[in-house]
Amino acid sequence: MTPAPDFSRKQAQAGQLVRLVPAGREHATVLHPLLADAEVSRLTGTVHSSTGPAHPGSEGDGPAADPGSQVPWSVDELAEIYERWSRAEDRIVWVIEEIATGRVVGESVLNDLDGGNLSCGFRIWISGSRDRGLGSEAVDMTLRHAFEDQGLHRVSLEVYAFNPRARHVYEKAGFSLEGTLREALLFDGTWVDAHVMGILAEEWRSRTRDRPGGIPTDPPPAGP
Ligand SMILES: CC(C)(COP(=O)(O)OP(=O)(O)OC[C@H]1O[C@@H](n2cnc3c(N)ncnc32)[C@H](O)[C@@H]1OP(=O)(O)O)[C@@H](O)C(=O)NCCC(=O)NCCS
Repeated sequence: MTPAPDFSRKQAQAGQLVRLVPAGREHATVLHPLLADAEVSRLTGTVHSSTGPAHPGSEGDGPAADPGSQVPWSVDELAEIYERWSRAEDRIVWVIEEIATGRVVGESVLNDLDGGNLSCGFRIWISGSRDRGLGSEAVDMTLRHAFEDQGLHRVSLEVYAFNPRARHVYEKAGFSLEGTLREALLFDGTWVDAHVMGILAEEWRSRTRDRPGGIPTDPPPAGP
């Protein structure tokens, strides 16, 4: 029987293209410039406009950045945030390292652990190295950990309607659309819907059954 989920267990994982490494304060320096990526800020809902600052206040579920070159956290502040997250019992934050280059390209996160309901949330961002398959593999590896290592029943996320790439990657990983939070984000004066997506353990298992390593790859070609 799988033991109860325990997000204080933060394990590194290696795939074909990327390695997931538990994030710590030592990653603040390398993550800081990545967080200046305007596309990450827009698509994660961290900013309200193409030109404005990041949401004021806290680190939120970020960090993600503002659209200029100014990241709203100093390297020292980021180090504190990642230090706190490295000890958190309700989230696991991994930096995504590209194996071929050894470069950190983003982060993948399981958050808001609800141990009683065996569920949690998920978020991911990649800066500068998009559309090369790294994100798809990181999503699969994160889900594998959630369902196989942590024994979770359900993982959910929110994706904005103006982010068809992320939605495609999530659908490819097995997430289904569960509902829509209408006009959840105000961006550049326009309301944007947020879609809620979820995947259950049995859906993950049925997708990965018979696949070596449990990580789905491209669907097999249709038989004769
Ligand atoms: C979403 C994200 C993590 C995906 O990672 P990635 O490494 O870029 O994705 P991959 O290269 O593995 O796959 C991209 C897929 O999207 C497809 N795609 C690209 N642009 C697309 C678009 N405009 N509409 C639909 N699909 C698109 C690609 O064809 C590819 O599909 P395929 O694997 O079936 O060929 C990454 O792009 C990212 O961080 N984006 C910015 C931040 C963000 O959106 N975070 C998620 C917030 S919910």
